[in-house]
Amino acid sequence: MFINNTTQSYDLVIFGAKGDLTKRKLLPALYKLEKNKKIFKNTRIIGIGRANWNNSEYCKIVKKNLINFLNIPLEQKIWKLFKSKLFFYNLDINNISCFKKLEKILNTNNNITIYYFAMPPNTFEIICQGLGKSYLNNKNTRIVIEKPIGNCFKSAQIINKKISKYFKESQIFRIDHYLGKETTLNLLSLRFANNIFFNNWNNKIIDHIQITVSEKVGIEGRWKYFEKTGQMKDMVQNHLLQLLTIIAMSPPNDLTENSIRDEKVKVLNSLRLINNDNVNINTVRGQYSSGIIDGKKVVSYLNEDGIKENSKTETFVSIRVNIDNNRWKGVPFYLRTGKRLPKKCSKIVIFFKKIPINLFNNAFIDIPQNKLTIRLEPHEGIDLQIVNKVPDLQSEYLLEKVKLNFDYINTFPKNSLSDAYERLLLESILGNQSLFVRHDEVEASWKWIDSITNAWESTNLIPILYKSGTWGPKEISDQIINQDKRYWS
Ligand SMILES: NC(=O)c1ccc[n+]([C@@H]2O[C@H](COP(=O)([O-])OP(=O)(O)OC[C@H]3O[C@@H](n4cnc5c(N)ncnc54)[C@H](OP(=O)(O)O)[C@@H]3O)[C@@H](O)[C@H]2O)c1
Repeated sequence: MFINNTTQSYDLVIFGAKGDLTKRKLLPALYKLEKNKKIFKNTRIIGIGRANWNNSEYCKIVKKNLINFLNIPLEQKIWKLFKSKLFFYNLDINNISCFKKLEKILNTNNNITIYYFAMPPNTFEIICQGLGKSYLNNKNTRIVIEKPIGNCFKSAQIINKKISKYFKESQIFRIDHYLGKETTLNLLSLRFANNIFFNNWNNKIIDHIQITVSEKVGIEGRWKYFEKTGQMKDMVQNHLLQLLTIIAMSPPNDLTENSIRDEKVKVLNSLRLINNDNVNINTVRGQYSSGIIDGKKVVSYLNEDGIKENSKTETFVSIRVNIDNNRWKGVPFYLRTGKRLPKKCSKIVIFFKKIPINLFNNAFIDIPQNKLTIRLEPHEGIDLQIVNKVPDLQSEYLLEKVKLNFDYINTFPKNSLSDAYERLLLESILGNQSLFVRHDEVEASWKWIDSITNAWESTNLIPILYKSGTWGPKEISDQIINQDKRYWS
């Protein structure tokens, strides 16, 4: 998949060169790709924005940002190479003549050109228009766009439609950075390269599945965005549903982008709708109140700067999801995600069914279930809980739960885990779409999310307060899983 040396020329054009995403994620990821010799020799990284910077001013700003946001020291040798690829171009997206001038700098007939839209979604159409009208959208070009793609099914459909006037689906790379995590990529090999899981991944063997994505941080000043979005649209519509589809999909015909995405769409289309009749028993909304995180006092959501008085925006969600297909009939998926929870963690836990007969009554009246935990972060790895005999000379079996543990750090000490943006930028340069979200995936996930948010609104289901530093509105949230006689891992 990786090409080290190529004579092919690439241009990566970043709209929003001054923005937060570029500073925090894109530039550090690109620098690391340079360090790992994954940026092709002739690549140009062209930052675009309304600032009046020349190239050397831009390089100074990039250097400062790298020093602030790289989690490794900046090496002079690498910086020199990286700097030689940096350019800045002043462009206001509302000014069509700027795009015409951009055409003179780019050479889309000979170079692969990737336009990265690190910009608000309401600017996507105008950028596409500018590029289209200046003939900068030929088959050698690609666009990379960030979430959120809309804020409901209709708006997502409109964005997809508008973009598709200028770029074919094969040229559109919709980012969900969870798909670039090494541990997410490994889900495919875990499921489809290991017969023990390949053959047991269904409702005959699996009891239920839990997906948790918890954050310690609050909204971190992003109130303008978050007030309109909430945790459901910010996290569930994209990251959690992407994890769910990879865990639940049937084996694709092969590993090509469309085979994988076809299977993911089938899962999304099989999600049982949650509506006015069942929203109360299948979902819980929460909102953080003040509390203590890492020994420090933190304010409630309502007291964050910019938040409306009496805001009903949720910062915590838990949901019971049913998938109406043969493989998963009767196997609930429990999702939970929230801000200001006790720790930052993303994990998937697969609970296998209990063994039908118990030969070991002395040790366990109820033999514990096997449990496979996939740790996306922290301590990336996988562990499998099994039941094991305690070694001793007694004739009766004494059993205990133990874990078979794999972690990346100890197993692959020489291979560091690459950052999701590093991987996704590289894959977009190489033109591999399997780690990007197709238009129908985005739309199908919004359809399902819309049914829940509409039901919240029409049944007036408002968020329940929870103390910052706790696991959400625990008693109510636990009911969703406890009523099925199951418990959060
Ligand atoms: N920040 C993150 O970590 C993150 C994570 C995931 C997704 N995203 C998504 O990524 C996108 C960008 O987010 P962000 O946080 O980087 O936003 P941001 O800090 O507000 O940056 C937006 C950029 O858009 C540029 N811009 C706006 N109007 C423009 C115009 N008329 N012409 C040229 N440039 C214009 C701004 O340029 P000026 O400086 O010239 O105004 C700025 O550089 C959003 O869709 C966001 O939802 C961000």
